[in-house]
Amino acid sequence: MKIRKVETDKKQYLDLLLLADEQEEMIDRYLERGTMYVLEEDGVRAECVVTDEGGGILELKNIAVRPGDQGKGYGKALVDFLLHTYAGQYAVLQVGTGDSPCTIPFYEACGFRRHHRVKNFFTDHYDHPIYECGVQLVDMVYLQRDIEP
Ligand SMILES: CC(C)(COP(=O)(O)OP(=O)(O)OC[C@H]1O[C@@H](n2cnc3c(N)ncnc32)[C@H](O)[C@@H]1OP(=O)(O)O)[C@@H](O)C(=O)NCCC(=O)NCCS
Repeated sequence: MKIRKVETDKKQYLDLLLLADEQEEMIDRYLERGTMYVLEEDGVRAECVVTDEGGGILELKNIAVRPGDQGKGYGKALVDFLLHTYAGQYAVLQVGTGDSPCTIPFYEACGFRRHHRVKNFFTDHYDHPIYECGVQLVDMVYLQRDIEP
């Protein structure tokens, strides 16, 4: 397994990016200023994008594993890679997500804890209702975990 930074043409992984964030216009808000990584094992199986949010906070804006490869540890491997890579550079890894049983348990398994929420984020910013695991996403839930130095 190898994880490498993507320097150019990040949109070549749009199919993966859209798995985590289904409106391309929302992805465009962070993709260029973000740092993207892909996880390869006989081809690209997962990706993530992180941004500098200031104040020692690194934000995980997008993380997705190919549908046939989910539940095999690739998502956690990317989070562990970020914690290792950014140790000493940032104090906190933050993620914003819908209040969905598909994603919150994954972040909790990776050591994140609920921190705050932004009311009506999904209903205010997306042009159509977003459903995940049969639940309509309304508020953005932010979770955080320390990045050990
Ligand atoms: C969410 C996602 C990135 C998780 O990656 P993954 O490779 O499937 O997850 P992993 O196999 O690394 O799981 C790591 C841990 O989380 C747990 N976990 C993952 N998804 C879970 C779920 N839906 N419910 C409960 N636990 C879950 C695993 O059991 C594992 O726990 P363990 O370390 O105690 O064994 C992946 O499923 C995905 O791409 N989903 C679609 C896109 C998406 O929703 N992205 C997030 C947008 S905010």
